[in-house]
Amino acid sequence: MPPRKIIIDTDPGQDDAVAILLALASPEEIDVLGITCVAGNVPLELTSKNALKICELAGKSDVKVYAGCDRPLGRALVTAEHVHGKTGLDGPDLPDPTMQLQEQHAVEYIIDTLSRAEDNSVTLCPLGPLTNIATVLQRAPELATKVTQIVLMGGAYFEVGNITPTAEFNIYVDPEAADIVFKSGINLVVMPLDVTHKALVTAARNEAFRALGNPAGIAVAQMTEFFERFDREKYGSDGAPLHDPCVTAYLVRPDLFTGRHINVEIETRSELTMGMTVADWWGVTNRTPNALFIGDLNADGFFTLLTDRLARL
Ligand code: RIB
Ligand code: CA
Repeated sequence: MPPRKIIIDTDPGQDDAVAILLALASPEEIDVLGITCVAGNVPLELTSKNALKICELAGKSDVKVYAGCDRPLGRALVTAEHVHGKTGLDGPDLPDPTMQLQEQHAVEYIIDTLSRAEDNSVTLCPLGPLTNIATVLQRAPELATKVTQIVLMGGAYFEVGNITPTAEFNIYVDPEAADIVFKSGINLVVMPLDVTHKALVTAARNEAFRALGNPAGIAVAQMTEFFERFDREKYGSDGAPLHDPCVTAYLVRPDLFTGRHINVEIETRSELTMGMTVADWWGVTNRTPNALFIGDLNADGFFTLLTDRLARL
């Protein structure tokens, strides 16, 4: 089976970093065509710089990285320095990157790449707000046929919100963009907080990262140590939830995940519940299912995969 051709759209973010490292360490299953950056956890200038740092940490300075949209489609940017620190990648002290961003805008890059691709040949992996992806679909809706699947981190149902009582951060930052993606008709796999809150970096799992002894393992241990305090304080969690790596782990081992194919719609009108993913988990409406909404994972299998792959870098 040839590796999947993917574009990672990201707002690094420590968990984005781990997701990218896992993808770059898995060439048998994943061919990373490019990495596109979006404003989210921190402003675009920092998410772009962080993506370059992560590629160099992985020893993959040949990966092409593009800067994209610096704000949501129709509202002010909300960032999450309170979770990720002022750099967005607090924890390890990674050197400034020497590799450069590509000149082309991320949206133009995705449009060009899909235009040249075969039908159903590219997987999009959004790990942040969906602004770039929605802009592509607005400007070139005919390119949806080139996308075989969108596997994204975002939303919540049983876990409810992490940035408001009802909304998860990625969807909340740009609900209009999320609405476009969830109505696109493209095959969607959604990793909501319902599953990512079960992927917790316990002390033993963090120690296993550190014990790898390589730069990637040590940096991931430092990132998750920094990143976990928010969730420990808010939820009493037993470690940092690795949200975004659920996306790239799914590409390698989908059998680690379980969910339901259901209807998911995005709240874009009520300020009270703005950005809520209204998931019809119990099938109480006759709305058409549009997403595989993941609810559970084999956490030990996930961390074994992740640790084994980080060891390769
Ligand atoms: O709510 C978690 C999501 O928001 C993750 O993708 C994290 O990186 C932030 O972008
Ligand atoms: Ca993210």
